[in-house]
Amino acid sequence: MAIKLNDTYVKQFIAEDELAGMAPQIKAAQEMLTNRSGLGNDFLGWIDLPVNYDREEFARIEKAAEKIRNDSDVLIVIGIGGSYLGARAAIELLKSPFYNNLKKDTPDIYFVGNNINPTYLNEILSLCEGKDVSVNIISKSGTTTEPALAFRVFREFLINKYGAEEAKKRIYATTDKARGTLKELSDAEGYETFVIPDDVGGRFSVLTAVGLLPIAVSGACIRSLMEGAAAAREAYAEPDLEKNDCYKYVAYRNALYRKGKAIEILVSYDPAFAMMAEWFKQLYGESEGKDKKGLYPSSAIFSTDLHSMGQFIQDGARVMFETVVDIKEPKKDFFIKADPTNFDGLNFLSEKNMSEVNRKAMQGTILAHTEGGVPNLVLEMPKIDEFELGYLIYFFEKACGLSGYVLGVNPFNQPGVESYKKNMFALLNKPGYEKEKAALEAKLGA
Ligand code: PA5
Repeated sequence: MAIKLNDTYVKQFIAEDELAGMAPQIKAAQEMLTNRSGLGNDFLGWIDLPVNYDREEFARIEKAAEKIRNDSDVLIVIGIGGSYLGARAAIELLKSPFYNNLKKDTPDIYFVGNNINPTYLNEILSLCEGKDVSVNIISKSGTTTEPALAFRVFREFLINKYGAEEAKKRIYATTDKARGTLKELSDAEGYETFVIPDDVGGRFSVLTAVGLLPIAVSGACIRSLMEGAAAAREAYAEPDLEKNDCYKYVAYRNALYRKGKAIEILVSYDPAFAMMAEWFKQLYGESEGKDKKGLYPSSAIFSTDLHSMGQFIQDGARVMFETVVDIKEPKKDFFIKADPTNFDGLNFLSEKNMSEVNRKAMQGTILAHTEGGVPNLVLEMPKIDEFELGYLIYFFEKACGLSGYVLGVNPFNQPGVESYKKNMFALLNKPGYEKEKAALEAKLGA
């Protein structure tokens, strides 16, 4: 069983010949990936990663995860963007959004360095009091401000708690194989290091040590995760658009974009999927949103958001389509019993599993939104486990690379991310930014 694209609810918006008309563009995009002839072709390492990863390092990741599970109550994962979202998304989906509060024999996992909020940092520091702690600092460049700042704090925390020598044994650095401040420090201090390959960009890095170490610490099976991704890699090598759901997804979303549907809402009926949607948003937003082009990726958890954004989606500006991730089987179902008095009039729901009610809500919503002019693509995921997640991750990664090429952008760079950094550095007196400071302060009226 694997991910399946159900296009029933998009067919009234995209005719068969329109879809077929996309085939040559998908083929050309696929050739650019295969021949490594497109823009950003030095960042295509993710394509073969599921079959072509460093086995020796993989075994070291499993060993390090085991050590962390044995000697730590808490793992602090420091990273931002692609060095953060995939691990958190996978842990919340495979384990639970309440992972840290569950009874378990694996460490709590907290993510820091993904913002610059002092309250957030203070609260996590206080959660570490009296606990045995390890730290996984993840930064490809090794210079990103948010994680670097958080690492400074947690390194000091470990040194104060354990002394310099023991602290070194509790720090795991995931970074570039040769370059950067973090790599230099790790070599000097003797931290165990893991590599973010040169040819894998941050948002495509969840299946490298970036994602694998934290995911393994949570007790999830990273071997099955890789197997799922490898199965998807094989399935999506199929050249025929009609038989390749990944290609079809790319074709539909680009055809919809050309018809003015510039917003894609990734929908799930499982709150545990919320962080996966954040991962998806980074993957697509950073890959496609450039040169004044791109689909704006957004997300919703239903039925929760049907009581907030539902009004807009049903009735507002017709600028969006939905991609619904339909998880066929919940991890734990709930049987709704009958109440003899039927005091709330809800006995029409009784003697059913709650997943059935959730499913009817999904079916009803798909019909209502489609009738309201919002095309719906449905991605059927059989269940939540490591294999299926690996499969889904590869599906979205491959579709993203292809989609960027169909759109005519370089899907593997992110030049726009630099603008806020430059302004922030100038305003904070970072050496080298003196000239910009005065102009920015004048604009702020400072
Ligand atoms: O996708 C990307 O490249 C970015 O989101 C980066 O992952 C993010 O900016 C963090 O960069 P780094 O790992 O260099 O600290």
